[in-house]
Amino acid sequence: MKQIAIFASGTGSNAARIIDHFRHHAAVKVSLIVCNKPGAGVLSIAEKEQIPTLLLEKERFFRGDAYVEELRERKIDFLVLAGFLWKIPTNLVKAFNQRILNIHPALLPKYGGKGMYGHFVHEAVISAKETETGISIHYVDELYDHGQIVFQASFPVEATDTPESLAQKVHKLEHEHFPGIIEQVLSNLQNQR
Ligand code: GRF
Repeated sequence: MKQIAIFASGTGSNAARIIDHFRHHAAVKVSLIVCNKPGAGVLSIAEKEQIPTLLLEKERFFRGDAYVEELRERKIDFLVLAGFLWKIPTNLVKAFNQRILNIHPALLPKYGGKGMYGHFVHEAVISAKETETGISIHYVDELYDHGQIVFQASFPVEATDTPESLAQKVHKLEHEHFPGIIEQVLSNLQNQR
């Protein structure tokens, strides 16, 4: 059984889809929700689903051990970032080399990097008069939104689109694809062993 930890700090709509997808899975289990924001929606989802949570302390995350030991003790094999805004510290990237996936609400390498999250991304896409946007699922390395891209899906930006309408369309695509891509990546990992 591969055990996943989902790192999320927002409403957790992607986390909810991922939990649902793997609910009765034979080889994958969502075992932990990691969050840096007390009161975040994702924590209520975890409570409802009876999944253990880990609330990160900033100081410890960045200057200490990045919770590597704690994740190891909990026998976590794979990390999924779904709306987690802190940069992943080097020791965590190294400990989970090629075992961390992130989802980004645009077509990387465009519209990524520090400060490029949520509505900032969609506003930038509209200001630049892009004709398409979409989602990117990628491995995490030490730079923001930079690791190897595993999957992208796009859709046209209409003249009538607003940052809000793009956010909605992006979320729909994320929910459609993220759980399945995680499953694929995990099954490739299994086959490599
Ligand atoms: C998603 O749009 C994702 O691309 C970004 O953060 C958002 C999280 O949304 N990294 P939710 O909390 O899963 O609804």
